[in-house]
Amino acid sequence: MLSGKKIVIGITGSIAAYKIPLLVRLLKKEGAQVQILMTPAAHDFVTPLTLSTLSERPVLSSFFREEDGNWFSHVDLGLWADLLLVAPLSANTLAKMATGIADNLLLTTVLSARCPVYFAPAMDLDMYKHPATKHNIRTLQSFGYHFIEPDAGELASGLSGPGRMKEPEELFRFIKMQLLPEGPFAGKKVLVSAGPTFEPIDPVRYIGNHSTGRMGIEIALALARKGAQVELVLGPSSIEVNHPGIRLSKVTTADEMYNQCTRIFPDCQLAVMAAAVADFAPVKPAEQKIKKKDGLASIELKPTPDILAALGKVKTAAQFLVGFALETENEEANSRQKLESKNLDLIVLNSLKDKGAGFGHPTNKVSVLSRLGQRVDFPLKSKKEVAEDILTLIAKNLSTLS
Ligand code: CTP
Repeated sequence: MLSGKKIVIGITGSIAAYKIPLLVRLLKKEGAQVQILMTPAAHDFVTPLTLSTLSERPVLSSFFREEDGNWFSHVDLGLWADLLLVAPLSANTLAKMATGIADNLLLTTVLSARCPVYFAPAMDLDMYKHPATKHNIRTLQSFGYHFIEPDAGELASGLSGPGRMKEPEELFRFIKMQLLPEGPFAGKKVLVSAGPTFEPIDPVRYIGNHSTGRMGIEIALALARKGAQVELVLGPSSIEVNHPGIRLSKVTTADEMYNQCTRIFPDCQLAVMAAAVADFAPVKPAEQKIKKKDGLASIELKPTPDILAALGKVKTAAQFLVGFALETENEEANSRQKLESKNLDLIVLNSLKDKGAGFGHPTNKVSVLSRLGQRVDFPLKSKKEVAEDILTLIAKNLSTLS
């Protein structure tokens, strides 16, 4: 039940506004207090009367109260809310928020909010795909706001593609998970590393590996679906990650990944290090492109910092650390050795011997070894299913944490 929970819903000028009364109804049925704010354009798509009837509160749109002309405090509203959702979020309001414009009550309330703020965009696919919109989304994400990605499907324009606001039932489930987290990962702060690292040789060349980042990203997404607050530190990857429960830090080199991970880890209860970190980096990357005619007999390399081992060193009894091992021989013995030497609680073993497993495949086949000596082997599965299996084992082993 959501009784005692206070939710502000900001509605902007988009056709999907007609779905918000259903969301209000679902939240009210669970006992939440719901305050509706509307931008002037939203009035063209849904009536304030419907929303005030369902929310049992007057709908707010203007800075001034009509009855007495008094100023309405957006700061109070921003402090009152346990959660603020702007749904549907139009391209126009998105752009205004990205630049800090505050010319209506909804915008000033978002600027004053201290609670978690979520945005559920709804717009035509070309507007959604436009570089200006993408830029504005990235800007707002960097401020700590969370996006509830729209679905792809038929749009009001008759076109078909991404831009449909998530259905009210899904928004309701999402809000509930944020306000009443359940399960072993809910509300936990978790660090996930994923992807390769690229170590520059010169401004155009680098030492890298075949990792796509898919396995670690699936783990981050599975954790976020279970209500964790995920900090994903991702090396160069072409996969787009967009989940309101994931804060993304993009890095390129092992040094950058080390800096991010060691900064974030002390606040986390769990870390899953799935990145394929380069073990060696050029000692001194050339400042200019190395010309063919000058030749290059060798590249002097230095070891990169072992991020997982560094986290293992500072790990407290309240933290749980999971590593990966990629082995081509003596798999179990080598993995157990890594588990011990890096002070891990679990290690996920990938064998390159298995067909369909490892880099570049949509599937993976893993075995998980625990500090207590257990081994669980899983069959070949999609990386999404493998992520779920790994989380199930982490959840079981979390209870062994002292
Ligand atoms: N790892 C890390 N930092 C590094 C190298 C590896 O954090 N510089 C992490 C990986 O994210 C993975 C684990 O260590 O979780 C094991 O990586 P792997 O490459 O299998 O093992 P290494 O420790 O590098 O040992 P080796 O290459 O000798 O097998």
